[in-house]
Amino acid sequence: MTYHDVGRFDARADTYDKPALQGFFGAVHRATLSFATPDAPGSVLDVGAGTGELLALVHARFPDAALSGVDPAARMLARAREKPFPAELSIGTAEALPFPAEHFDLVLSTTSFHHWADPARGLAEIHRVLTPGGTAVVAEHFTRGWLRVAARLLPRRNRTESVEDVVALAHNAGLDFAGQATVFRLAGLHFVTALRLRKPGNA
Ligand SMILES: C[S@@+](CC[C@H](N)C(=O)[O-])C[C@H]1O[C@@H](n2cnc3c(N)ncnc32)[C@H](O)[C@@H]1O
Repeated sequence: MTYHDVGRFDARADTYDKPALQGFFGAVHRATLSFATPDAPGSVLDVGAGTGELLALVHARFPDAALSGVDPAARMLARAREKPFPAELSIGTAEALPFPAEHFDLVLSTTSFHHWADPARGLAEIHRVLTPGGTAVVAEHFTRGWLRVAARLLPRRNRTESVEDVVALAHNAGLDFAGQATVFRLAGLHFVTALRLRKPGNA
């Protein structure tokens, strides 16, 4: 499998937490976590955890949750390891999550999905590591509304999937669609959409 974007993120790791970028990412993290759960989860995995800002927020809101993060960019994870929250941080990809089956009751992923080399496999892996009844929330600038038009102007490699395509991929992976929310707006228009996906079974 070819992972195109990992070197790019390693190169940006030292400047990734600058306020100019975190104004966007921080807003996505806060809205995604609020959409994901009002209740304290027992165990949380962040796929494509980057510099760990979302996990830091999860820890601030739910200090007793056991946290894990995975990302293929070693330098991004190195920044995450410098932060004062307890988490198991592993180098790896969505397509081969380095965790046992049925291990997490909440899986989160923000603005990472469109970098995955094989999104179908990533969703199948999320299904595998979720406990029965567990929830995944995947936030991305999935094409929807005006983004459908804008996406046609981008080179194919930079295009994101449509909400409908991701819901279909998730369904094939055994995950039920359980709602969506706009977690970031640009000039009042929805820009980043979070999809809530559930693994069937008792919560
Ligand atoms: C735009 S950054 C977002 C980081 C973090 N989720 C956040 O919201 O700040 C995308 C992240 O996805 C990671 N990534 C790239 N390919 C991946 C893959 N196949 N599996 C998991 N993560 C991947 C990158 O290394 C990068 O850290």
